[in-house]
Amino acid sequence: MYGKVLLCLTFVAAVTLPLANSLKCYECRDVNSCKNPSTVECNQSNANATRDALLNIYHNIQITNSTQYSCYVGIYSGGNTTVSDVRGCLPSNAVSCSAPLVNSTWVKHTCNICSQDLCNKKNSVGTFSSSIVTMIGLLFLAKVFLN
Ligand SMILES: *[C@@H]1O[C@H](CO)[C@@H](O)[C@H](O)[C@H]1NC(C)=O
Ligand SMILES: *[C@@H]1O[C@H](CO)[C@@H](O)[C@H](O)[C@H]1NC(C)=O
Repeated sequence: MYGKVLLCLTFVAAVTLPLANSLKCYECRDVNSCKNPSTVECNQSNANATRDALLNIYHNIQITNSTQYSCYVGIYSGGNTTVSDVRGCLPSNAVSCSAPLVNSTWVKHTCNICSQDLCNKKNSVGTFSSSIVTMIGLLFLAKVFLN
């Protein structure tokens, strides 16, 4: 019984950890460069840089030394034009898309924080976070192994 649970947990860890450690995201910091975003592998330095760029956009940014990353895309418009477009790696839980905006007249076009490689695209919408995928995987495996 314990052996099966352990095997199950090891399997889930083996499947999810390498993914979490080598997350890739699109990265760009302004409307112009976001027409042609680059691709980066997340590390604390580029995740911190994205978080710092968001200090001008949201209230309630969490400054932690997290080494877990998500991909972030946030596109806002004012009047008829896109006024802010930031994409990149972000420390997990640094901010949420529902955090209040510094400029309350901006209108949300896209905001998504996700955990699959290159998931932070324009018009991307709530994909499953990896923790939900992990949970489902765990429940599925538990059912298979413990039957
Ligand atoms: C990222 O930010 C955290 C929190 O301020 C800090 O502890 C950490 O040293 C920073 N890492 C890098 C590589 O800048
Ligand atoms: C916004 O779009 C409308 C309709 O397309 C146009 O009439 C108006 O001049 C535009 N306003 C700005 C600030 O560009």
